[in-house]
Amino acid sequence: METVEPLILAGAEGLGERPVAAKTGTLYGVGMGPGDPDYLTVRAVRVLERAPVLVHFCKRGRRGNARTIADALVRDPARELALAYPYTTELPPEHPEYVSALAGFYDDASARLADHLGAGRDVAILSEGDPFFYGSFMHLWRRLKDRFPVEVVPGVTGMSGCWTRAGTPITWGDDVLTVLPATLPAAVLTERLRGTDAAVVMKLGRHLPKVRAALGQAGLLARAVYVERGTMAGERVLPLIEKPDDEAPYFSMVLVPGEGRRP
Ligand SMILES: C[S@@+](CC[C@H](N)C(=O)[O-])C[C@H]1O[C@@H](n2cnc3c(N)ncnc32)[C@H](O)[C@@H]1O
Repeated sequence: METVEPLILAGAEGLGERPVAAKTGTLYGVGMGPGDPDYLTVRAVRVLERAPVLVHFCKRGRRGNARTIADALVRDPARELALAYPYTTELPPEHPEYVSALAGFYDDASARLADHLGAGRDVAILSEGDPFFYGSFMHLWRRLKDRFPVEVVPGVTGMSGCWTRAGTPITWGDDVLTVLPATLPAAVLTERLRGTDAAVVMKLGRHLPKVRAALGQAGLLARAVYVERGTMAGERVLPLIEKPDDEAPYFSMVLVPGEGRRP
Protein backbone atom coordinates (compact mmCIF):
# COMPACT_ATOMS: atom_id res chain seq x y z
CA MET A 1 0.00 0.00 0.00
CA GLU A 2 1.47 3.35 -1.00
CA THR A 3 1.70 5.90 1.80
CA VAL A 4 3.34 9.28 2.22
CA GLU A 5 6.13 9.33 4.76
CA PRO A 6 4.60 11.16 7.71
CA LEU A 7 6.51 14.10 9.12
CA ILE A 8 4.75 14.41 12.45
CA LEU A 9 4.76 10.69 13.08
CA ALA A 10 8.43 10.19 12.35
CA GLY A 11 9.08 8.78 15.80
CA ALA A 12 9.19 5.12 16.75
CA GLU A 13 6.39 4.10 14.40
CA GLY A 14 6.94 6.64 11.61
CA LEU A 15 8.45 6.50 8.14
CA GLY A 16 6.26 3.76 6.74
CA GLU A 17 7.06 1.26 9.48
CA ARG A 18 3.91 1.60 11.49
CA PRO A 19 2.96 -1.61 13.31
CA VAL A 20 0.23 -3.59 11.54
CA ALA A 21 -2.24 -3.17 14.44
CA ALA A 22 -1.97 0.64 14.24
CA LYS A 23 -1.86 0.86 10.48
CA THR A 24 -4.33 3.55 9.63
CA GLY A 25 -3.81 6.12 6.91
CA THR A 26 -2.86 9.73 7.62
CA LEU A 27 -5.19 12.61 6.85
CA TYR A 28 -3.32 15.38 4.99
CA GLY A 29 -4.62 18.90 4.56
CA VAL A 30 -2.59 20.14 1.63
CA GLY A 31 -2.25 23.88 1.10
CA MET A 32 -2.40 24.43 -2.67
CA GLY A 33 -1.37 28.10 -2.62
CA PRO A 34 -3.16 31.00 -4.29
CA GLY A 35 -3.48 29.58 -7.81
CA ASP A 36 -0.23 29.47 -9.75
CA PRO A 37 1.13 25.91 -9.27
CA ASP A 38 4.64 27.38 -9.02
CA TYR A 39 3.64 28.49 -5.51
CA LEU A 40 3.04 24.93 -4.30
CA THR A 41 5.47 23.92 -1.55
CA VAL A 42 7.91 21.02 -1.94
CA ARG A 43 6.04 19.16 0.82
CA ALA A 44 2.69 19.68 -0.94
CA VAL A 45 4.08 18.23 -4.18
CA ARG A 46 5.52 15.26 -2.33
CA VAL A 47 2.17 14.45 -0.70
CA LEU A 48 0.21 14.97 -3.95
CA GLU A 49 2.50 12.66 -5.89
CA ARG A 50 2.12 9.81 -3.43
CA ALA A 51 -1.21 9.88 -1.59
CA PRO A 52 -3.52 7.11 -2.84
CA VAL A 53 -6.68 9.20 -2.26
CA LEU A 54 -6.84 12.83 -3.41
CA VAL A 55 -9.93 14.75 -2.29
CA HIS A 56 -11.18 18.11 -3.51
CA PHE A 57 -14.30 20.18 -2.85
CA CYS A 58 -16.33 21.50 -5.75
CA LYS A 59 -19.61 23.02 -6.83
CA ARG A 60 -21.97 20.44 -8.38
CA GLY A 61 -20.95 19.70 -11.97
CA ARG A 62 -17.85 21.88 -11.71
CA ARG A 63 -14.21 21.25 -11.03
CA GLY A 64 -12.82 22.67 -7.81
CA ASN A 65 -10.17 25.35 -8.05
CA ALA A 66 -7.80 23.50 -5.71
CA ARG A 67 -8.00 20.54 -8.11
CA THR A 68 -7.18 22.75 -11.10
CA ILE A 69 -4.00 23.91 -9.36
CA ALA A 70 -2.93 20.25 -9.20
CA ASP A 71 -3.44 19.64 -12.95
CA ALA A 72 0.24 19.42 -13.76
CA LEU A 73 0.79 16.80 -11.05
CA VAL A 74 -2.30 14.62 -10.87
CA ARG A 75 -2.97 12.46 -13.89
CA ASP A 76 -4.51 9.41 -12.31
CA PRO A 77 -8.34 9.72 -12.03
CA ALA A 78 -8.50 6.50 -9.98
CA ARG A 79 -6.98 8.35 -7.02
CA GLU A 80 -9.53 11.17 -7.08
CA LEU A 81 -12.55 11.81 -4.90
CA ALA A 82 -14.66 14.92 -5.59
CA LEU A 83 -16.92 16.22 -2.81
CA ALA A 84 -19.72 18.41 -4.26
CA TYR A 85 -21.22 20.92 -1.83
CA PRO A 86 -25.03 20.66 -1.54
CA TYR A 87 -25.18 24.48 -1.64
CA THR A 88 -22.65 27.21 -2.33
CA THR A 89 -24.31 30.61 -2.82
CA GLU A 90 -27.94 29.50 -3.30
CA LEU A 91 -28.84 30.06 0.38
CA PRO A 92 -27.37 32.45 2.98
CA PRO A 93 -24.92 30.61 5.30
CA GLU A 94 -27.10 31.35 8.36
CA HIS A 95 -30.20 29.74 6.77
CA PRO A 96 -31.19 26.65 8.85
CA GLU A 97 -31.47 24.49 5.73
CA TYR A 98 -27.98 25.51 4.63
CA VAL A 99 -26.55 24.79 8.09
CA SER A 100 -28.10 21.33 8.35
CA ALA A 101 -27.31 20.39 4.72
CA LEU A 102 -23.67 21.40 5.19
CA ALA A 103 -23.37 19.54 8.50
CA GLY A 104 -24.80 16.40 6.86
CA PHE A 105 -22.47 16.83 3.90
CA TYR A 106 -19.39 17.07 6.15
CA ASP A 107 -20.58 14.11 8.26
CA ASP A 108 -21.05 11.93 5.15
CA ALA A 109 -17.75 13.05 3.65
CA SER A 110 -15.94 12.29 6.93
CA ALA A 111 -17.44 8.79 6.99
CA ARG A 112 -16.21 8.15 3.43
CA LEU A 113 -12.73 9.37 4.26
CA ALA A 114 -12.71 7.38 7.51
CA ASP A 115 -13.29 4.21 5.45
CA HIS A 116 -10.12 4.92 3.44
CA LEU A 117 -8.10 5.95 6.50
CA GLY A 118 -9.27 2.93 8.49
CA ALA A 119 -8.13 0.69 5.63
CA GLY A 120 -4.63 2.19 5.85
CA ARG A 121 -4.86 4.55 2.88
CA ASP A 122 -3.50 8.08 3.23
CA VAL A 123 -6.02 10.75 2.23
CA ALA A 124 -4.92 14.18 0.99
CA ILE A 125 -7.48 16.99 0.96
CA LEU A 126 -6.54 19.68 -1.52
CA SER A 127 -7.17 23.12 -0.01
CA GLU A 128 -6.88 26.47 -1.74
CA GLY A 129 -4.31 28.73 -0.10
CA ASP A 130 -3.68 27.53 3.44
CA PRO A 131 -5.88 24.73 4.88
CA PHE A 132 -6.24 26.40 8.31
CA PHE A 133 -7.32 29.78 6.91
CA TYR A 134 -11.09 29.75 6.21
CA GLY A 135 -10.60 26.30 4.66
CA SER A 136 -13.40 23.74 4.17
CA PHE A 137 -10.74 21.20 5.12
CA MET A 138 -11.17 22.33 8.72
CA HIS A 139 -14.68 20.86 8.91
CA LEU A 140 -13.36 17.39 8.01
CA TRP A 141 -10.26 17.85 10.18
CA ARG A 142 -12.53 18.63 13.18
CA ARG A 143 -14.48 15.40 12.63
CA LEU A 144 -11.47 13.13 12.02
CA LYS A 145 -8.52 14.52 13.97
CA ASP A 146 -9.07 12.48 17.13
CA ARG A 147 -9.32 9.19 15.26
CA PHE A 148 -6.52 9.38 12.70
CA PRO A 149 -3.04 10.86 12.38
CA VAL A 150 -3.11 14.26 10.71
CA GLU A 151 -0.58 16.39 8.92
CA VAL A 152 -1.39 19.87 7.69
CA VAL A 153 0.84 21.19 4.91
CA PRO A 154 0.76 24.99 5.07
CA GLY A 155 0.20 26.92 1.87
CA VAL A 156 0.76 30.43 0.51
CA THR A 157 -2.54 32.17 1.30
CA GLY A 158 -4.71 33.76 -1.37
CA MET A 159 -4.21 37.19 0.22
CA SER A 160 -0.43 36.76 0.13
CA GLY A 161 -0.63 35.91 -3.58
CA CYS A 162 -2.91 38.92 -4.16
CA TRP A 163 -0.79 41.57 -2.48
CA THR A 164 2.27 40.14 -4.19
CA ARG A 165 0.62 40.46 -7.61
CA ALA A 166 -0.71 43.91 -6.71
CA GLY A 167 2.92 44.87 -6.01
CA THR A 168 2.01 46.40 -2.67
CA PRO A 169 3.38 45.64 0.80
CA ILE A 170 0.43 45.21 3.17
CA THR A 171 1.89 46.17 6.58
CA TRP A 172 4.75 48.42 7.73
CA GLY A 173 6.16 48.98 11.23
CA ASP A 174 3.36 48.73 13.81
CA ASP A 175 0.50 48.50 11.29
CA VAL A 176 -2.41 46.36 12.43
CA LEU A 177 -3.89 44.17 9.68
CA THR A 178 -7.57 43.19 9.84
CA VAL A 179 -8.95 40.37 7.71
CA LEU A 180 -12.69 40.70 7.07
CA PRO A 181 -15.19 38.42 5.32
CA ALA A 182 -17.38 40.64 3.11
CA THR A 183 -20.36 38.65 4.36
CA LEU A 184 -20.37 40.69 7.62
CA PRO A 185 -23.07 43.35 8.08
CA ALA A 186 -22.27 46.80 6.66
CA ALA A 187 -22.05 48.47 10.09
CA VAL A 188 -19.56 45.86 11.34
CA LEU A 189 -17.41 46.22 8.22
CA THR A 190 -17.33 50.01 8.63
CA GLU A 191 -16.46 49.84 12.33
CA ARG A 192 -13.67 47.30 11.78
CA LEU A 193 -12.27 49.25 8.83
CA ARG A 194 -12.25 52.46 10.89
CA GLY A 195 -10.21 50.73 13.59
CA THR A 196 -7.42 49.27 11.45
CA ASP A 197 -4.31 50.40 9.58
CA ALA A 198 -4.49 47.79 6.82
CA ALA A 199 -7.20 45.40 5.67
CA VAL A 200 -8.01 42.41 3.51
CA VAL A 201 -11.67 41.93 2.59
CA MET A 202 -12.40 38.43 1.32
CA LYS A 203 -15.41 36.53 -0.06
CA LEU A 204 -16.60 39.52 -2.09
CA GLY A 205 -19.10 38.09 -4.62
CA ARG A 206 -22.40 39.98 -4.43
CA HIS A 207 -21.17 41.91 -1.36
CA LEU A 208 -18.90 44.29 -3.28
CA PRO A 209 -21.33 47.29 -3.20
CA LYS A 210 -21.57 46.97 0.61
CA VAL A 211 -17.76 46.73 0.91
CA ARG A 212 -17.30 49.77 -1.32
CA ALA A 213 -19.71 51.78 0.85
CA ALA A 214 -18.03 50.66 4.09
CA LEU A 215 -14.60 51.62 2.73
CA GLY A 216 -16.00 55.03 1.79
CA GLN A 217 -17.45 55.52 5.30
CA ALA A 218 -14.09 54.57 6.81
CA GLY A 219 -12.19 56.95 4.51
CA LEU A 220 -10.23 54.11 2.89
CA LEU A 221 -11.70 53.96 -0.60
CA ALA A 222 -8.83 55.81 -2.27
CA ARG A 223 -6.29 53.28 -0.95
CA ALA A 224 -8.31 50.14 -1.81
CA VAL A 225 -7.01 47.73 -4.45
CA TYR A 226 -9.26 45.15 -6.10
CA VAL A 227 -7.67 41.79 -7.04
CA GLU A 228 -9.51 39.10 -8.97
CA ARG A 229 -8.08 35.57 -9.43
CA GLY A 230 -4.65 36.59 -8.08
CA THR A 231 -1.84 34.48 -9.62
CA MET A 232 -4.38 32.48 -11.71
CA ALA A 233 -5.36 32.69 -15.36
CA GLY A 234 -7.63 35.71 -15.84
CA GLU A 235 -6.00 37.73 -13.04
CA ARG A 236 -7.12 41.38 -12.70
CA VAL A 237 -5.60 44.03 -10.43
CA LEU A 238 -6.87 47.60 -10.29
CA PRO A 239 -7.59 50.43 -7.84
CA LEU A 240 -11.14 49.82 -6.55
CA ILE A 241 -12.20 53.37 -7.50
CA GLU A 242 -11.36 52.56 -11.13
CA LYS A 243 -13.54 49.44 -11.19
CA PRO A 244 -16.60 50.51 -13.15
CA ASP A 245 -19.03 47.82 -11.94
CA ASP A 246 -19.86 45.87 -8.80
CA GLU A 247 -19.38 42.39 -10.30
CA ALA A 248 -16.95 40.24 -8.32
CA PRO A 249 -16.32 36.50 -8.70
CA TYR A 250 -15.73 34.17 -5.76
CA PHE A 251 -11.96 34.46 -6.17
CA SER A 252 -11.58 38.15 -5.53
CA MET A 253 -10.65 40.40 -2.63
CA VAL A 254 -10.00 44.02 -1.69
CA LEU A 255 -6.69 45.04 -0.15
CA VAL A 256 -6.11 48.20 1.87
CA PRO A 257 -2.33 48.54 2.23
CA GLY A 258 -1.05 50.00 5.49
CA GLU A 259 0.94 53.24 5.53
CA GLY A 260 2.88 52.72 8.74
CA ARG A 261 6.45 53.54 9.75
CA ARG A 262 8.79 53.73 6.78
CA PRO A 263 12.17 55.17 7.89
C1 LIG B 1 -13.06 30.22 1.79
S1 LIG B 1 -11.82 31.42 1.56
C2 LIG B 1 -10.42 30.35 1.41
C3 LIG B 1 -9.13 31.04 1.73
C4 LIG B 1 -7.90 30.16 1.48
N1 LIG B 1 -7.86 29.04 2.39
C5 LIG B 1 -6.60 30.95 1.61
O1 LIG B 1 -5.71 30.55 2.37
O2 LIG B 1 -6.49 31.96 0.92
C6 LIG B 1 -12.10 31.91 -0.11
C7 LIG B 1 -11.77 33.37 -0.37
O3 LIG B 1 -10.37 33.52 -0.46
C8 LIG B 1 -10.08 34.59 -1.34
N2 LIG B 1 -9.09 34.11 -2.32
C9 LIG B 1 -8.37 32.97 -2.20
N3 LIG B 1 -7.49 32.85 -3.21
C10 LIG B 1 -7.66 33.94 -3.99
C11 LIG B 1 -7.02 34.40 -5.18
N4 LIG B 1 -6.05 33.68 -5.75
N5 LIG B 1 -7.43 35.56 -5.72
C12 LIG B 1 -8.41 36.27 -5.14
N6 LIG B 1 -9.05 35.89 -4.01
C13 LIG B 1 -8.67 34.75 -3.44
C14 LIG B 1 -11.38 35.05 -1.98
O4 LIG B 1 -11.78 36.22 -1.30
C15 LIG B 1 -12.30 33.90 -1.68
O5 LIG B 1 -13.64 34.32 -1.60
